[in-house]
Amino acid sequence: MALVPYEENPLPALSKLHSSSAQFRFANQELRLVQDWRRLGVAAVVWDAAVVLCMYLELGAVELKGRKAIELGAGTGLVGIVAALMGANVTITDRQPALELLSANVEANLPPESRSSVVVSELTWGQGLQRFPQGGFDLVLGADIVYLEETFPSLLQTLEHLCSENTIVLLACKIRYERDTDFLSMLRGRFSVEEVHYDKDRDIHVYEARRPPKRRDL
Ligand SMILES: C[S@@+](CC[C@H](N)C(=O)[O-])C[C@H]1O[C@@H](n2cnc3c(N)ncnc32)[C@H](O)[C@@H]1O
Repeated sequence: MALVPYEENPLPALSKLHSSSAQFRFANQELRLVQDWRRLGVAAVVWDAAVVLCMYLELGAVELKGRKAIELGAGTGLVGIVAALMGANVTITDRQPALELLSANVEANLPPESRSSVVVSELTWGQGLQRFPQGGFDLVLGADIVYLEETFPSLLQTLEHLCSENTIVLLACKIRYERDTDFLSMLRGRFSVEEVHYDKDRDIHVYEARRPPKRRDL
């Protein structure tokens, strides 16, 4: 599977993706994420969905302190870094080719006292899931990870593995194509899903998903 599904786009709105770094202020910290579109494509730039998910986390709707979180398809790692700065213990994951830049960004943006609360790990959806505790996370985070139709079944399988009835899944999504909503339909078949936030300027939806409690027949 190609890591670079999009062509380079000369539109000024996309020029920020081609910049060698992106800067933000979240959790009272200045963050500088190194980007490398030419070498690694989509995994090596900060997408608007990540920014909106961080803004949503800062609104405080979800408790992060002391919570066990995992980020899927983290790319540069912005969301996982912000979650860690806000007190979560975070496993930040992506496919193997993305990990070097991801680890460097994590290292560069976390103060020494927060580094022990973050682990960077390879996770290709649907593969090697036994390395991650079944139902073992309080929070599953994903920004702009719903875009490759062929990954929808393995992404759903991964969510089912990671989540217990108490897990909160937060997915920040840019709905670019009709097919992206197919994933939401698949998700609704296994989770209860609610839109909890919409950023009109960036056209990003944040969905919260939870596994319904198992039916207990008497
Ligand atoms: C559009 S980028 C979003 C990156 C980051 N979350 C953000 O919003 O800035 C999609 C991410 O999903 C990852 N990804 C794509 N397919 C994957 C798969 N099968 N398993 C794990 N990660 C995958 C890519 O490597 C990439 O980092």
